[in-house]
Amino acid sequence: MRWPAEQVRRELNSAIPPMITEQKVKAETVFVCTQCGRTLVKWMGRCPGCGEWNTVVERDMPSVRSKAALSLAQTEPGGVLPITEIRGMPEARLKTGMEEFDRALGGGIVARSLILLGGDPGIGKSTLLMQALGALARLNERVLYISGEESPEQLKLRADRLGILADNFLVLAENRFETVLSHIDESQCSVVVVDSVQSIFSPSLDSAAGSVSQIRHVTAGILDVVKRGAAACFLVGHVTKDGVLAGPKVLEHMVDTVLSFEGERSHPYRILRASKNRFGSSSEIGVFEMGDRGLQEVANPSELFLSERPEGVSGSAVTALVEGTRPILAEIQALVTGPAPGQGRRTCLGVDSQRLALMIAVLEKKLGLALADQDIFLNAVGGVRASEPAADLAVAGALLSSFMDRVAGSRTVLFGEVGLAGEARRVSNAEGRIAEAARLGFTRIIAPKANVEAAAPGRGLKLVAITHIKELASLLFQEES
Ligand code: TYD
Ligand code: MG
Repeated sequence: MRWPAEQVRRELNSAIPPMITEQKVKAETVFVCTQCGRTLVKWMGRCPGCGEWNTVVERDMPSVRSKAALSLAQTEPGGVLPITEIRGMPEARLKTGMEEFDRALGGGIVARSLILLGGDPGIGKSTLLMQALGALARLNERVLYISGEESPEQLKLRADRLGILADNFLVLAENRFETVLSHIDESQCSVVVVDSVQSIFSPSLDSAAGSVSQIRHVTAGILDVVKRGAAACFLVGHVTKDGVLAGPKVLEHMVDTVLSFEGERSHPYRILRASKNRFGSSSEIGVFEMGDRGLQEVANPSELFLSERPEGVSGSAVTALVEGTRPILAEIQALVTGPAPGQGRRTCLGVDSQRLALMIAVLEKKLGLALADQDIFLNAVGGVRASEPAADLAVAGALLSSFMDRVAGSRTVLFGEVGLAGEARRVSNAEGRIAEAARLGFTRIIAPKANVEAAAPGRGLKLVAITHIKELASLLFQEES
């Protein structure tokens, strides 16, 4: 029997409880650790979150549940819409003209977005953002740089050195939160930088500047102003090497975009990487080189990452990665030494340690290499991150080359995933990887059979298909034509 539509509707309506229209927001007392920001239901001498003593203070706070109930009650009837009836907002993006910077952001800065830029102290965050603002100022945008760390004189000195002095580049040296907020609100700038979130301090909280509750409070305030205003805002956040300071981690879900500026202080290369982006791809990277006059964009990262590659040595293999939509060639170096007493040490940089463990296991089992008591060091050269499975073949190749102390072909690129049975598995975007290898003058590519079969012929390089890791040795050490 079918139900008449009207009856179904009536039945449904009677099943829904009446809407909550009024509920008192009850003030509750909570206890908050001033060090790590953890909320506790009762006072404790020692915070169970961070282990600090005497950091828990009492705070009045409306309970989360009553807040939620209130906002539910305030929802207008008819607030629910079919998604197709929502009129799309054109997404206004501001391009700085620094292509590597715009690219990492997914094509420019989105209006009214809050972007967190994290990175080790001294890596070049202030320099990067100052240059980006400088580029915008040159395009006649009004921009504001707020620094809680440096004096106006210091800021000017740096801007001068970077060659970006301009009248519509405003600066403010300030670390009082309330003042910072009102300036962001009233400055009528299109982009504002707050450097750094740790240095901005609100006296309305008891905790020290830079503590998690301060950082969270500051970010929430700025977020609010940014969403109501017109400016986009960059927040700088310091991250210590061992991630001790939880600050920036806490902020990641509050902001629209999280960028990190990575690299080794001792190397000039810097990679700007988005790890979260509500307005675009989060897998694009921007590559820079730090020089005397600030950061220079690197349009061809492959050339940079391969520039110091030693030729004719064992333990080196070149792979083709894809970062976002961009193919990048990188060198993987391995050093296998031993035997060491007991279990060998494994150290890897730029390569996922789990994938290294997997490759070692496959090489042991399928090729019979005795690696258990060997010390193994693996490095993706130049600070590049080769965490893609597509790097597997090159990782295996570098390990094999070092273990056997035989030189792999120097004009050869390897890419492809290796499965647990030792089979070579296809990876995405093979065309892009092959084209990049051809562009840089490589003559031979070793790739999974499925990728080789699907590849378009031509380009003047030799495509060699591999189906199983067992074939790797004979292919890798072959003479190149
Ligand atoms: P900075 O942007 O202050 O780093 P962060 O804000 O991340 O702490 O830059 C720090 C380093 O960059 C500093 O050690 C000097 C170097 N640097 C250059 O090499 N060239 C330059 O033109 C500038 C401005 C800085
Ligand atoms: Mg700085």
